[in-house]
Amino acid sequence: MNKITVVGAGHVGATTAQRLAEKELAREIVLVDILEGTPQGKALDQWQSGPVEGFDTRIIGANDYGPAKGSDLFVVTAGIPRKPGMSRDDLVKTNAGIVQSVAAEIKKVAPKAMIIVVSNPLDVMCYVAKKVTGFPRERVMGMAGILDTARFRTFLAQAIGVSVDDIQAMVLGGHGDSMVPLISYTTVSGIPITQFIKQSALDPIVERTRKGGGEIVSLLKTGSAYYAPSSGAVQMVEAIVKDKKRLLPCAAWLEGEFGMKDVFVGVPCLLGAGGVERIVEIELSAEEKAALVKSADAVRETMSVVEL
Ligand code: NAI
Ligand code: 2OP
Repeated sequence: MNKITVVGAGHVGATTAQRLAEKELAREIVLVDILEGTPQGKALDQWQSGPVEGFDTRIIGANDYGPAKGSDLFVVTAGIPRKPGMSRDDLVKTNAGIVQSVAAEIKKVAPKAMIIVVSNPLDVMCYVAKKVTGFPRERVMGMAGILDTARFRTFLAQAIGVSVDDIQAMVLGGHGDSMVPLISYTTVSGIPITQFIKQSALDPIVERTRKGGGEIVSLLKTGSAYYAPSSGAVQMVEAIVKDKKRLLPCAAWLEGEFGMKDVFVGVPCLLGAGGVERIVEIELSAEEKAALVKSADAVRETMSVVEL
């Protein structure tokens, strides 16, 4: 890819930019933030890690969208993070205003770009980005399911005593407490997870996954997670840049899939050069289906707070 712009040079944005550069996923990375000097300083510092890390990607920082003109892809991390005791939805009004202004700029400088939203509340911010840009659903998606799934896989691997590489799982639904880990599709190298762990041990892991973001917020006290979130965003970028056709849980705009429409929610998406090339409607148990609908309803409730 020629140019990727990361909007928001905070914890998630800066870590994402560094990871993208280290993987040489674009020739140029632009880091945009409203804080004067911050994106420029971080970008310069990151660029100077190139000779040591062995990448040729150039990283540029800016307070405006001039350098972002013609970007192929944007990762939007602008916004305020959660503070202890705050739910993701508490962020909605502030971050909706921020993402609205960011999306309007993207539409101006790169009308053909793809957008990966990370800002919270994730599913609702995806809706804001899609509504403001008017981009088709293939080009506007959100990162959360990969993070929630990574947390689930980490906890399971630890409990069972196997490599995280061998845990396959998918957490669907909105990026909130109503997210839906699909136990029936969770395996250790293809073998159902229930052959490795008792239900009584699985339940607390599901609960810990649901509260995974909050656990980190209460430890950090002044912000939220960013290492694993940036890894998730970069995995999505890589799938698109390398046209890998990865099947990943991403927030996508539903148009009838799983019996729902006009809402962003985490579902299995085929990611390739065309962005969200397909939403794969896997079979769900009645319980999982009901949980997904409930989770989408929670997203809708927050959507109703947003005025565009
Ligand atoms: P942070 O506070 O470290 O960085 C946010 C940056 O956005 C700041 O540097 C701020 O100056 C900038 N910003 C604010 N308004 C802006 C605007 N209009 N244009 C450009 N930049 C602007 O926060 P952090 O930790 O990087 O988190 C960023 C967002 O990502 C938060 O909303 C957080 O809740 C969300 N998040 C989402 C995750 C997910 O799974 N989807 C995981 C982790 C964080
Ligand atoms: C997380 O799950 C804050 O949404 C962010 O860590």
